[in-house]
Amino acid sequence: MPTTVKSRPEELSDILDLQAAEEASLALPPELPSNLRHIVLTGFMGAGKSTVGRLVAARLGWKFLDLDQHLEARAGLSVPEIFALHGEAHFRRLESSALASALGQPRTVLALGGGTPEVLTNRLLLEQTPGTAIIFLDAPFPALFDRCVLQGISRPVLADPAAAELRFAARHPLYRRLARHTIETADAAPEQTALALIAALARNRAS
Ligand code: S3P
Repeated sequence: MPTTVKSRPEELSDILDLQAAEEASLALPPELPSNLRHIVLTGFMGAGKSTVGRLVAARLGWKFLDLDQHLEARAGLSVPEIFALHGEAHFRRLESSALASALGQPRTVLALGGGTPEVLTNRLLLEQTPGTAIIFLDAPFPALFDRCVLQGISRPVLADPAAAELRFAARHPLYRRLARHTIETADAAPEQTALALIAALARNRAS
């Protein structure tokens, strides 16, 4: 059943979430569902998919894969270069084929690109790949935009902030529907989010 987890304790249920997160951090390696092969992080640019994904992978002893980096390595070009030279439609084709390749690798924490779930075949592939748990890292658009500005990474889709906000609104329901768990990250440190994520997956095992 889909759940939403906040990373800061405000109510009893949040405190229980945090306790579960702490328990998960003590039990190494955490007890995850035995059929779990891929932990996939989705969300808009600036959601922390790569930062949190690296922390989760390190804690589990799994491999971490960033879909943009995987795609860049396969194409021999950076994401901004692909957009500039070949356009977004070409980038999306490379992204879909990089996704299929990434999902062939077991025991992997995979950080998607912010736009990966826009493509129907990507959503179907993610939903139909056995042993795949998808987690949505959520935050309001202004917080995400500020994080992206601070990171200073070149992101072609952010060049027009008003258009980026429209994309955020269009994608938000897709992220939500795709994910088994949603974690709200606006006020959370990446370590807290990583622990909340592992706790949510470990709880899933028991249910
Ligand atoms: C994009 C997000 C980027 C990257 C590309 C397009 C998008 O990934 O795939 O610039 O359409 O939202 P991050 O979400 O990792 O920044």
